[in-house]
Amino acid sequence: MQSARETAAACADLAALEAALADFDGCALKDTALNLCFADGSPEAEIMLIGEAPGAEEDRRGKPFVGPSGRLLDKMLGSIGLARGEVWITNIIFWRPPGNRAPTSAETAVCQPFLERQIELLRPRLIVFLGGAAARALLGLEEGVTRLRGRRLAYPLADGGTVPALVTFHPAYLLRQPAQKRLAWRDLLTIRRFLQSSSR
Ligand code: URA
Repeated sequence: MQSARETAAACADLAALEAALADFDGCALKDTALNLCFADGSPEAEIMLIGEAPGAEEDRRGKPFVGPSGRLLDKMLGSIGLARGEVWITNIIFWRPPGNRAPTSAETAVCQPFLERQIELLRPRLIVFLGGAAARALLGLEEGVTRLRGRRLAYPLADGGTVPALVTFHPAYLLRQPAQKRLAWRDLLTIRRFLQSSSR
């Protein structure tokens, strides 16, 4: 059987990657999930948002961030003039963990080559990590979201290039802690400034 990394590397575009993931049997979460939850948005997007794992509504509809957190995310993007169809939204995990438990490190590791290949194929100008878990998984960092927010990070590409990256609060956290929306607004303004300051 091909490894996740070999399977992902063989995909020449995002549609092929989604099809390969749908056929991939190396993640046990697939057995309990209703649907693969690959990504949503535009393959031409300049900005890529990476969350953690699909919840119940995402699992039913096979799309990331379409439940309560997704509705808040849509409003956050809208506040800086971005529509869901103009960005690329995905997660570090592509199937819902049963009962919304936190993904294990083994589940994260097996999904990671597919996420890394998504980044290579999309080549966004900016990656926004929604919550600390995604940034920790992809950048090998250890700090929590509060320490990671506000920092200029860089995601290393296999060809030696980098993609600028930043971390903001996960929308589910903001639903529980609305007072933190003030800081999330600062992050949104940073994103807007970044997009305005450099165009492809
Ligand atoms: N939370 C996430 O991290 N991702 C989703 O798709 C939905 C909720």
